Amino acid sequence: MLNRHEIFEKRGLLLTVAILVVVAIGGVVEIAPLFYLESTIEKVKGVRPYSPLELAGRNIYIREGCYTCHSQMVRPLRDEVERYGHYSLAAESMYDHPFQWGSKRSGPDLARVGGKYSDAWHQQHLVDPRSVVPESIMPPYAFLDERPLDYSQVEAWLKANRAVGVPYTDEMIENAKADLEAQVDPFSDIYDEFLARYPNAQIRDFDGDARQISEMDAMIAYLQVLGTMVNFSTYEPEENYR
Ligand code: HEC
Repeated sequence: MLNRHEIFEKRGLLLTVAILVVVAIGGVVEIAPLFYLESTIEKVKGVRPYSPLELAGRNIYIREGCYTCHSQMVRPLRDEVERYGHYSLAAESMYDHPFQWGSKRSGPDLARVGGKYSDAWHQQHLVDPRSVVPESIMPPYAFLDERPLDYSQVEAWLKANRAVGVPYTDEMIENAKADLEAQVDPFSDIYDEFLARYPNAQIRDFDGDARQISEMDAMIAYLQVLGTMVNFSTYEPEENYR
């Protein structure tokens, strides 16, 4: 057996071909199932597309490069789970295009930040991070508070997401503007329709300033929904995934 190795070791070209064959087998084993599996993502109850306001906040999150310092993926390692909560499920980012897993943590992971702080805390923190966390190195984003949210393109944002697979319906797209406005208005006329389209969405004036819908409203709405769609007190992984 050992001296048969010589056949390969003395012939560079043959060795190259043999390596390619062996690597290709590995490749086929990994890639081929993806063509006949319907989905590699286990469906999980509660995960829904972002509401228009949350999506607007997500756009600002990307525009401001928050992902350069923050990840959004809790890995299934004990220290992470104890610090942040249940590890992230694939389904939780299935409607994220592009995903915001990130690759660097200058700040903490944000995958489960929703509900961890009050809206007022987020607002104060974004306006002046060091006023609530003295040792913080996070830059301030005070302008979010002043800037009115430009949502003239909101239908297009939903359509773009639909083009890459997010199941926004025609009804959701038609009502995108009204839904965005309804989410910051607890007295909205379309309260019930909005909630039917986006179950469990949080409805309130996120920045506490009813005079305008600001970028701060959108940013906080987004932060407050992160990691909250799945109810982990009732969540049971499917048999194969346990
Ligand atoms: C230069 C790196 C950096 C950038 C860019 C950055 N952050 Fe942070 N962020 C941090 C650091 C460091 C902390 C931890 C200290 C603190 O709470 O301020 C933090 C904390 C946070 C927290 C509190 C997390 C927790 O669990 O306590 C939130 C929420 C947050 N950042 C949101 C954002 C948002 C939204 C943006 C973009 C608008 C952003 N950050 C941009 C560095 C950054």
